[in-house]
Amino acid sequence: MKKILILLGPPGAGKGTVGNKLSQMWNLPLISSGDLLRENVNRETELGKKAKDYMEKGELVPDEIVVSIIKKRTSESDCENGFILDGFPRNLNQAKMIDEVYGKEGEIKTVFLNADDDFIVERLSNRRVCEKCGAIYHLINIPPKKDGICDKCGGKLIQREDDKEDVIRNRLHIYHQITAPLLEYYRNKGDFYEVDGEAGLDEIIKEISGIIKW
Ligand code: AP5
Repeated sequence: MKKILILLGPPGAGKGTVGNKLSQMWNLPLISSGDLLRENVNRETELGKKAKDYMEKGELVPDEIVVSIIKKRTSESDCENGFILDGFPRNLNQAKMIDEVYGKEGEIKTVFLNADDDFIVERLSNRRVCEKCGAIYHLINIPPKKDGICDKCGGKLIQREDDKEDVIRNRLHIYHQITAPLLEYYRNKGDFYEVDGEAGLDEIIKEISGIIKW
């Protein structure tokens, strides 16, 4: 069975940061729909051109674009034993795609990283990401060793376009309207765990690794 972990949670709850640690620990690829979309936008692919406007406004990119990107990526050879999903699914249609494609061959578990809206706005305004390798930092909690420079690859650290307060608030609104109802869906399916996304990273990782034993 493929080991499939779905990380659910509002923008800025820490899905990418936590997912990255778990990916190293479990040796499973971390697949972030946001990163895959940003890569397409930067490379100016046809998909990227279609996605750009939605992303800048903090709105969901249409399913046909995101689903095709995720299907393609999760069928690659490094996903043979499983994968960790960050940012996907974000609505019921996307959740059904995972069930249809991986329901039989996958052991699907869900972790919900919970955090309050005001906490998130504050947290995301301090987020910086490496424009080269995508590594995630926080100016106060997880700062780089050298100001503005990625510890891992020496790339330049930038602020994401959608990390401005009005766009963050729109992303949160969409999360509550469209994505949060998925919590009920996965809670009812079982293998669903809620973790405090406002806790320290080490504490979160310890909690998840105590709960999930593949
Ligand atoms: P996406 O990139 O998925 O953004 P998001 O869901 O809004 O999530 P973020 O990446 O903002 O936050 P995160 O939870 O990963 O937090 P992080 O680890 O960075 O999506 C962007 C856009 O793409 C969407 O708006 C949409 O347009 C489109 N899109 C993507 N997927 C889609 C889909 N499936 N369908 C349709 N459209 C889609 O952490 C945040 C900050 O906190 C960082 O600074 C980090 O260092 C810090 N931090 C994290 N955890 C801790 C901790 N425990 N302690 C201290 N600091 C921490």
